[in-house]
Amino acid sequence: MKPRLKLGVNIDHVATIRQARGTDYPDLLAAAHCCEAAGADGITIHLREDRRHIQDADVWRLRRECRLPINLEMANAPAIVRMALRVKPAEVCLVPERRQELTTEGGLDVLGQFQSMQRTVARLRDAGIAVSIFIAPDAAQLAAAARLGVPVVELHTGAFANARGAALPRELRRLQRAADCAHDLGLQVNAGHGISYANIADVLQLRWLDTLNIGHSIVARALFCGLTRAVREMRTALRAYRGGAR
Ligand code: PXP
Repeated sequence: MKPRLKLGVNIDHVATIRQARGTDYPDLLAAAHCCEAAGADGITIHLREDRRHIQDADVWRLRRECRLPINLEMANAPAIVRMALRVKPAEVCLVPERRQELTTEGGLDVLGQFQSMQRTVARLRDAGIAVSIFIAPDAAQLAAAARLGVPVVELHTGAFANARGAALPRELRRLQRAADCAHDLGLQVNAGHGISYANIADVLQLRWLDTLNIGHSIVARALFCGLTRAVREMRTALRAYRGGAR
């Protein structure tokens, strides 16, 4: 049977617009409702240490009032981990974070911080939270992820999204090797970063995908056609997915 490829909509940039003027609009919960009405499977938000877009109150409110599962992206930082343990979102995706970056620029170095990651993953898992980690499509990081005991990895598609010319098929092959490797290790494969209406057809060539987390392109498209329609268009594109079988 053809699998349903899930769509998590990252609504950080709805909050970015709000924070730009310090207003109480646009309303994040209303945005989440539009995503739900358009067939999204989950809402993704990134609680950054500098709180540049999503605020603590947003996390609590969405957790309480949004019917879709919340996937909280966050750094492995003590205060943020404590917050996640109190809020208990359905999922946490551990991501690297640097203050100066525009967005999450690389994958997690699981090998470089294995013990601290192991402690955090265990605490989150014991609280009943499904944990994933955001990593580059790299065999060594995938093997470390499996040793960490996370059930899910999110492959960083940023290098693919930025690739042009001959680099593009190369990055797509790299993602496919990583997806095959993750699948062989028994890991659920999610992917995200820089996925757009322009490159989604290429992304759909990848086998073993469970969920795509997409934000920037959907919120940008929403400026012209509204959020519900922007999400619906992406949802429609995802229907072409054929899964693992070829
Ligand atoms: N997945 C993760 C782990 C991310 O950090 C981000 C960006 O916040 C996304 C997905 C969404 O990326 P984009 O906004 O480029 O679609």
